[in-house]
Amino acid sequence: MVLKTHGEIDLMDEANRIVHRVLDGIAERVRPGATTRELDLWAEATIRDAGAVPAFLDYRGYPATLCTSINDVIVHGIPDDRPLEEGDIVGVDCGVLYKGYYGDAARTFAVNEVGDEARKLMDVTRDSLHLAVDQLHPGNRLSDIGHAVQAFVETHGFSVVREFVGHGIGTSLHEDPQVPNFGDAGHGPRLKPGLVLAIEPMVNIGASGVKVDADGWTARTADGTLSAHFEYSVAVTESGPRILGQA
Ligand code: MF3
Ligand code: CO
Repeated sequence: MVLKTHGEIDLMDEANRIVHRVLDGIAERVRPGATTRELDLWAEATIRDAGAVPAFLDYRGYPATLCTSINDVIVHGIPDDRPLEEGDIVGVDCGVLYKGYYGDAARTFAVNEVGDEARKLMDVTRDSLHLAVDQLHPGNRLSDIGHAVQAFVETHGFSVVREFVGHGIGTSLHEDPQVPNFGDAGHGPRLKPGLVLAIEPMVNIGASGVKVDADGWTARTADGTLSAHFEYSVAVTESGPRILGQA
């Protein structure tokens, strides 16, 4: 586990500021008729205008700037020309490289009015991320994060995805440690100031199982139910969690 200095964390804050500026712009552009390809092209131009580079583009052959994951797609949906429809939910994941450091964050957006179950899924997933962030105090253990997510999500009758996990982040997009969204509390290494983690709960309405499309990326719920995803890059500081890129 790589610990970052205060100066490095400030640079990662700048990288994540660009990511959140993109996600704020996406929030304004998500509407019926918009295509995820249009959103992707706007995101790429915005990132490059900020002097940063899209982090996902060409990562292990990934073909776009954003991941756009609609309805039963959990993560890694590839932007395309299918217009968004009223009632869809779309997870948008964005990563950038800026001044040598990575930023990574995701939000799930509603396309106008969505059903009650979809709304509850989004609320529970977002709230589970905040409960996870609340664990990032020095002295807590790594598995306290996933335990907080799983306990909350299952209380609401939903399930957490096991196949994909959060991760350390810094001068690489993915660093040690892995950060599962499940498990018992009180295990693993203690969290120390300077540790930066991308925490990213993925929550399904139905069962936790995953299947991946023939494109090798698009990960869907095996049972076809809706899935939501929220992510922050968060630093552990002496005084507790610092969500990077947030005002
Ligand atoms: N937030 C995801 C991650 O941390 C997004 C990766 S998309 C990929 O892995 F294309 F870069 F793989
Ligand atoms: Co990530």
